Amino acid sequence: MIVLGIETSCDETAAAVVDSDRRIRSNVVLSQIDEHRPYGGVVPEIAARAHVEQIDGLIRRAMVEAELSFTELDGVAATAGPGLIGGVMVGLVTGKAIAAAIDRPLLAINHLEGHALTARLTDDLEFPYLLLLVSGGHCQLVLIEGLGRYRRLGTTIDDAVGEAFDKVAKMLGLDYPGGPAVQQAAERGDGDAISLPRPMVGRPGCDFSFSGLKTAVRRLLDNQPELRSEDVAAGFQTAVGDVMADRVGNAIEMARAIYPGVAHVVIAGGVAANSHLRQRLGRLCREQDLILVAPPPALCTDNGAMIAWAGVERLHAGLHDPLDAPARARWPLDPDAKPMPFAGKKA
Ligand code: KG4
Ligand code: ZN
Repeated sequence: MIVLGIETSCDETAAAVVDSDRRIRSNVVLSQIDEHRPYGGVVPEIAARAHVEQIDGLIRRAMVEAELSFTELDGVAATAGPGLIGGVMVGLVTGKAIAAAIDRPLLAINHLEGHALTARLTDDLEFPYLLLLVSGGHCQLVLIEGLGRYRRLGTTIDDAVGEAFDKVAKMLGLDYPGGPAVQQAAERGDGDAISLPRPMVGRPGCDFSFSGLKTAVRRLLDNQPELRSEDVAAGFQTAVGDVMADRVGNAIEMARAIYPGVAHVVIAGGVAANSHLRQRLGRLCREQDLILVAPPPALCTDNGAMIAWAGVERLHAGLHDPLDAPARARWPLDPDAKPMPFAGKKA
């Protein structure tokens, strides 16, 4: 089974071809970072226009690299949300057009499901497993029980963690996007030289909060301008690591209460590329006799392969979507979860 996947929900235009033997036959990603850099964040109108300009050529490249013609596809998967609605519409309508033209099923994929199932593509993981999804727009702990069965255990009550990285980077005068820049600076700094709060640590449950930490960094910089930015970056990253370890610890307990045999913790989303976080969670998992699965960074950040793979899984389960499937700005992975108090700007 061979599926084309299209991803346009944020600031990456991406297309990939993946098959049911877990082979990524092509995976093309075009980042719009340069277009958004002058604004220090993603501008929805600029993103949508850039997707329109790039999507056709990108899909053509994905097909050429996979050495396939369109009629050799078994399905076409496209992100249908959640995300910036203009961009989502560009990718979804393109997917629909291709599906209609070659008379193959359309798979309208939830972007978060793409992140959630990536570890099955990269590591052939069995259900259930615990997922920590950390990106510019999301910060959630989800129990992945089966295809289409996702139980949200915790989420952020304010900012997403990637957003906090990006804002702290801005305060420190670092480059956009902030996550990789903060990590680089932190590698040259001393996290223990800085005293910062650990929001939510020690509290029951596994929700997150980052706005207090962000404000604390702001206050620190205002009151002690002599501080080295490398030390502040390291202090912030260490605090985030401590918060994550505490929250994931509680989530493991919750997951084990439901599935005593759960064996894996997966990290996904752009922030999963952070090496400090990987080490911190790796240590936690070893202590807990669990295996931490961290897909390669290129498959942690937004990409078409994860959408194609979610399409493979859905097609395999006999699922597909009508050609009038809607594009959705908001689309929770767990329909039973309480609505989030904060409206994520990115997925
Ligand atoms: O998943 P992603 O590519 O896009 C969405 O938000 O959907 O994640 C992007 C986020 C940005 O906030 C970026 O600063 C953060 O991931 N990020 C990192 C690192 N690499 C990317 N944060 C911390 N450390 C990193 N190495
Ligand atoms: Zn994402």
